[in-house]
Amino acid sequence: MLRGKRIYLRLMEEKDIPYKVKWINDPVVRKTLNFSYPISEVATKQWLSKVALDSSRKDFIVCLKENDNPIGYGGFLNIDPKNSKAETYLGIGEISYWGQGYGREAMQILLNYAFTELGLNKVYSYSWSENKGMINLNKSLGFKIEGKLEQDVFSHGEYRDRVVMGLLKKDYFAKQDGGHVIDP
Ligand SMILES: CC(C)(COP(=O)(O)OP(=O)(O)OC[C@H]1O[C@@H](n2cnc3c(N)ncnc32)[C@H](O)[C@@H]1OP(=O)(O)O)[C@@H](O)C(=O)NCCC(=O)NCCS
Repeated sequence: MLRGKRIYLRLMEEKDIPYKVKWINDPVVRKTLNFSYPISEVATKQWLSKVALDSSRKDFIVCLKENDNPIGYGGFLNIDPKNSKAETYLGIGEISYWGQGYGREAMQILLNYAFTELGLNKVYSYSWSENKGMINLNKSLGFKIEGKLEQDVFSHGEYRDRVVMGLLKKDYFAKQDGGHVIDP
């Protein structure tokens, strides 16, 4: 379990499937994602049994410390030991919790885990180029935009642009003060 101040991240379990399905199928959340829609509990169960054994990824659920309620998900894809990097992803699925710093705290927890426990040198992330929430959140933690990928993915009925953002271990630790990220 990865602990923060108000939240913790634990590996996703079968009991979390209804939450993940509800969040991804919520049209407001889905608009920000690249998912085949809709997703079902039965297919998500099969997906989870497969990815739980896949060492190239880690899939966490974000829970509130005060009552253990799940509010989101996040983790790493394409963990690449040779090049010491991984792609990160994050969503606060409960929309009523947006804008209260939970996303930022969850990403900080993921980054601490990536750079200290997994010992990675680089973390990167893809977002739709109009997803200001994710782009600003990442920037606030030191990510830099490394490029804009035009018409990169066909999703939601059109070819869409993405940005790729990256954060190096040395830049992450340069922002640290006694183990905490200095607020910008
Ligand atoms: C993107 C997301 C994770 C942000 O989480 P959150 O808990 O709402 O964000 P926080 O409250 O921690 O905000 C942290 C910083 O992110 C930025 N930010 C967050 N939401 C924003 C928005 N809608 N517009 C602009 N900036 C935003 C701000 O810089 C903010 O810092 P500030 O509070 O000092 O202004 C959340 O909105 C979400 O899960 N969206 C749907 C899924 C998604 O987009 N996932 C990413 C797919 S690539």
